[in-house]
Amino acid sequence: MDKRIIRFGVIGCGLMGKEFASAAARWCHLTGVDFEPRIVAVCDANPAATRWFEENVPSVRRAYADYRELLADPDVEAVYCAVPHNLHERIYIDIIQAGKHLLGEKPFGIDREANEAILKAIRENPGVVVRSSSEFPFFPGAQQIVKWVEEGRFGRIIEVEAGFWHSSDLDPTKPINWKRRIATNGEYGCMGDLGLHVLHLPLRFGWKPSTVRALLTKIIEERPDGQGGTAPCETWDNAILACDVSTDGQQFPMILSTKRIAPGHANTWFIRIQGTKWSAEFTTKNPKQVASLPYEAGGPQAWHVADAPYRSAYGTITGPIFEFGFSDSILQMWAAFCDEIAHGTEGMSQPFRCATPEEAAGSHRLFTAALESHRTGGTAAVDWGAPA
Ligand SMILES: NC(=O)c1ccc[n+]([C@@H]2O[C@H](COP(=O)([O-])OP(=O)(O)OC[C@H]3O[C@@H](n4cnc5c(N)ncnc54)[C@H](O)[C@@H]3O)[C@@H](O)[C@H]2O)c1
Repeated sequence: MDKRIIRFGVIGCGLMGKEFASAAARWCHLTGVDFEPRIVAVCDANPAATRWFEENVPSVRRAYADYRELLADPDVEAVYCAVPHNLHERIYIDIIQAGKHLLGEKPFGIDREANEAILKAIRENPGVVVRSSSEFPFFPGAQQIVKWVEEGRFGRIIEVEAGFWHSSDLDPTKPINWKRRIATNGEYGCMGDLGLHVLHLPLRFGWKPSTVRALLTKIIEERPDGQGGTAPCETWDNAILACDVSTDGQQFPMILSTKRIAPGHANTWFIRIQGTKWSAEFTTKNPKQVASLPYEAGGPQAWHVADAPYRSAYGTITGPIFEFGFSDSILQMWAAFCDEIAHGTEGMSQPFRCATPEEAAGSHRLFTAALESHRTGGTAAVDWGAPA
């Protein structure tokens, strides 16, 4: 099969930049796709980070220390950008204005103002495909829930709960990094870090919170600074957002939580939906299983827990009896992004798109209201008006 090769540049060659390199390197895992990313150029402020790419990714021809040089490289037609949140606004806007397609990391700007500036650049450059990274909805169990929502199985929604819980910051001896500082991570803290992962599906389903009551906590107040002293942790560790959703004539509560300090949870992403006719739950804690509870008036209330087969949005060489994992979800997300570049939104070979800039903007609206709720101690309205 002739494949459309999409020539990528990577800006930010840290943790997530390397995940993309790994996904691109195992593209042969996918079946029936007629597009393929090829990383031709990389950029990082830290030379050790770009060296890893030069040593491990044979397609890389050029390494830059200044992202503007990468953007001036005519070989680069699309960019993956995974840098600290304070750099999103400037670098994303420059990528879009350079006419390069962009898969950017969340939260798409350090705050709502930065996010709106990015949205403005997108509006001014409609030919560029811009999407946000959010891989967990590509787990087969999550895709099954998407299908059930689209089929309207749930009846009247009773309640929704979704969350993303980590425990990587439970260890107080872990040194501070940019994710614990407001200047680099933003005032949202754990919401900006983890929140779009949690909101991607609810917003895709049209479940926009109209109000929020936020409980934000800081648990570890200071950490080693790596130089023998300590530094204050400025950002929120955990957030519980109690939201009110009104949609399609229904109103229901939606509890969203993002936690960096959730003992026992390495990387748990989950969604639970309760409805009068159907309830369902998927969590990456049990990545093989999806639970559902069909209900008919007067009938039994029995959960069915089924092994979700390895049946992903894009076909793979892996048989359905095997397990799906984090790096598989990243590969699927990349397939969706490249499919959209190669064939346009309408021509994609399956319908589930990567998170859109509008969905990222929705997360900013909610987090901004959540900060206000925390400040006032009351319930805050989420502003869904036109962007400034
Ligand atoms: N999708 C996910 O599951 C997921 C997971 C973790 C992080 N993230 C997101 O990815 C982004 C990056 O996070 P990370 O964990 O990879 O961080 P990281 O610290 O591991 O990597 C960031 C890289 O950016 C580089 N950098 C800093 N300033 C730069 C500049 N001016 N030009 C070029 N490079 C520069 C750093 O040297 C570093 O190598 C963030 O937006 C974060 O929220 C997403």
